[in-house]
Amino acid sequence: MSSPFAHVQQLPRDPVLGITEAFVADSSPRKVNLGVGVYLDENGHVPLLDCVQQAEEELLRRKGPHSYVPIDGIAAFDNAVASLIFSGERPSLDERLVTVQALGGTGALKLGADFLRTTNPSARIWISDPSWENHRALFSAAGFEVETYPYYRADGGLDFAGLIQTLSSLPSGDILLLHACCHNPTGLDLEPYQWAEIQALAAERGVIPFLDAAYLGFADGLDADRVAIDTFAQAGLPFLVSFSFSKSLSLYGERVGALAVVTGGAAERGPVLSQIKRIARTTYSSPPSHGGATVATILNEPGLTALWHDELALMRDRIKAMREGLAERLRVQVPDRDFSFITRQRGMFSYSGLSKEAVEMLRSRFSIYALDSGRICVAALNKANLDIVAEAIATVLRESGEQSLVA
Ligand SMILES: Cc1ncc(COP(=O)(O)O)c(C=O)c1O
Repeated sequence: MSSPFAHVQQLPRDPVLGITEAFVADSSPRKVNLGVGVYLDENGHVPLLDCVQQAEEELLRRKGPHSYVPIDGIAAFDNAVASLIFSGERPSLDERLVTVQALGGTGALKLGADFLRTTNPSARIWISDPSWENHRALFSAAGFEVETYPYYRADGGLDFAGLIQTLSSLPSGDILLLHACCHNPTGLDLEPYQWAEIQALAAERGVIPFLDAAYLGFADGLDADRVAIDTFAQAGLPFLVSFSFSKSLSLYGERVGALAVVTGGAAERGPVLSQIKRIARTTYSSPPSHGGATVATILNEPGLTALWHDELALMRDRIKAMREGLAERLRVQVPDRDFSFITRQRGMFSYSGLSKEAVEMLRSRFSIYALDSGRICVAALNKANLDIVAEAIATVLRESGEQSLVA
């Protein structure tokens, strides 16, 4: 009998995982992996935050059984996360707000995508050009036609005019995916007045905003980074937020995040929750308990919450110091170029503007790994590798006559 899988085609491997595999196989003692999408500490390790460790110890002491958690997640988690996402705006939204625990930010996006597919089956979704590479794949897999709006200009600036022009032409019901802060991969964020303009135009067009908040707290702090969420919340119109604790609590493998849906009114809350629960039930039944319980413990105990805020600030400040360090070293080594964009970009990444050829040269000659797009993870830099990386980039720029590093 022939195999039912004989016709199955091999897909290309995930580009990010491919880079990590090549990095692991590299025997150079000076190798550096800047292709990763995780925060690494000064010693190059994924940190175990103190607040997480203390919450986990408390959970162990409680000796709770490993029961199923509700389909929409642990109630204490959902409640605390709604406050974290909406903060001061929460009371005005509460009666029409649905917040459910999800499997990381990806799981939250997927719940949101599957839900929107049932409410707006003919809608298209608009993502930034460029965007996190999984956005297109995820929304396509959910059945959406995925389009892009202009975002990054060749000169390294933000194409706000292009974004507005595209948004002005969208039909009612289409979905606009926006990065709430720390845009991945460019590190370019919108200004408060730009958020206000987008909100007003989306409302006028009847476009549904979907904010991806995977990096809240990594730009200027939790409160300041809420500007986009606050802008949409204050307008009081329906929108969605996907939230992730992978980065901000360094809980990558625990798959813990949330989807929040601001519905149109109290009467919509029950029906919307029931639909999202059906999607969760038929996809994974209920979310994993450990990450949710850990986060609920941290967010519901003021001492642990304060400790988390401090630890988040340390991560944020370390990234900023690495940005300064890289920009300063490049300024010294390549004085005819302007590297100030590195310190202006926000979050874990820098869109270096390095061409694919330059990235290839960094890899083959210096064992420094970056994404082909030129995205480097600034959070993977540390005092020990900063000189190595800066020297290598400077050499590549000088030898290749590379002109594309943005000003
Ligand atoms: C913009 C963006 N959204 C969502 C995610 C997914 O987060 P998680 O790892 O929690 O699924 C990521 C992860 O890198 C991301 O960069």
